[in-house]
This record gives sequence, structure tokens and C-alpha cells, in this order.
Amino acid sequence: TRTAVLISGRGSNMTVLVEAAKAADYPAEIALVLSNRPEAAGLAYAAGQRIPTLALDHRAYPDRGSFDAALDGALREAGIELVVLAGFMRILTPGFVEAWAGRMINIHPSLLPLFRGTHTHEQALAAGVRVHGCSVHYVVPELDAGPIVAQAAVPVLPGDDADALAARVLVQEHRLYPAALAMIASGRARLEGGRVILAEAA
Ligand code: GRF
Repeated sequence: TRTAVLISGRGSNMTVLVEAAKAADYPAEIALVLSNRPEAAGLAYAAGQRIPTLALDHRAYPDRGSFDAALDGALREAGIELVVLAGFMRILTPGFVEAWAGRMINIHPSLLPLFRGTHTHEQALAAGVRVHGCSVHYVVPELDAGPIVAQAAVPVLPGDDADALAARVLVQEHRLYPAALAMIASGRARLEGGRVILAEAA
């Protein structure tokens, strides 16, 4: 499955996906790494891995619609079948999201449906939850509201601040995202009628 990973910065989730995809039996191929920020550290890493990269600077476009049209064109030109958002910090227009419905996933650093949006670790600490984590979900027009593919949980420990909690969650993101992408690329998870259908264990 020809897969594009979209990033905006550090790109640590992208790097673990690239690593996972090196395995001969991994069902997804990372065919493109694209960033809306030309200076994103992850672009240099991907280029070093000989993966095609593209920077589409959103500041060069007058509005979200024209940026998303350029993004859509780049993905189609590269023959992309599956779009993976990994720390991609742009809100996508409903038209773009609909065009990629069932073929675009995101990782969000909370146990959805709790704590949508940004500052999820601060939100979790403020709420006083004892369990926190991360979710991989299909992307729908409403932010962080799409059907959930997979989740991983971590404890919230006494003395945690947002950074400590973020680091504990990130370890699980790096385990969860390659597994969830493999489920989707292999057809073991798919979207049907707005719900995620998981294959039964053999
Ligand atoms: C991750 O915590 C991801 O869940 C969130 O932004 C962070 C991106 O980190 N949406 P990285 O760029 O993958 O290192």
C-alpha cells in the first residue's frame, strides 16, 4: 500500500513508521514524506532514508482550500493510496477529508473521545484522570472525532507534569502507530458505514 506520511515538525512517529516498513513482510510502503513546514526536522531524516520528500509551505497559499488542493494533487501524483497524519498541525478542509475518507488516519495523544484538540496532556492532568494514552483514528471533518482503530493506555503517576506524561505516551505512540497502519494496510481493519471493522483473529 503506497503510503504518505504528513508531518509538521520533529517527526518521531514518522521515523518509527519508516523503520517498521523496512521489514519485508510489512504491508505498507512509505512512498512519500510531506511537510507543510520546509524546515521540519523529519524531512531531512526521510531524505537520508532515500524516501521521496516534499515540502508544501502552507504560507505560500492564500487559503486552506488552495493549500489542500495542492496537497491532494501531490498525493495523487505520487500514486498515494493511504495518508498517515503524524504530528501534522494543519486543519484540513471538509472537501479534502471527504476525498480521502476511509484512506486517511491520524494519531492523537489522548484516549479519545477524551481530550480532543491540543494540549492533551495538560487537559488530562487538569481532569485528574489516572489513565491516559493515545489513539489512532480515521480522519473525519470534525477534529479528532473519527472512528477509532487502536488505542494504548499509560498510567498517570504522582508528580507527573505534562512533559513527563507526554514522554510516557510517546513511547506507546511509537508502538501503536506501526501496528495500526499494518492493520489497515493489510485489510485487517477497515472503515465501513462509519465504523471500524476489525478482522477476527484466525
Ligand atoms: C505526537 O504526540 C502526536 O500524537 C501529536 O503530535 C506529536 C507529534 O510528534 N499529534 P512527532 O512529530 O511524531 O515526533
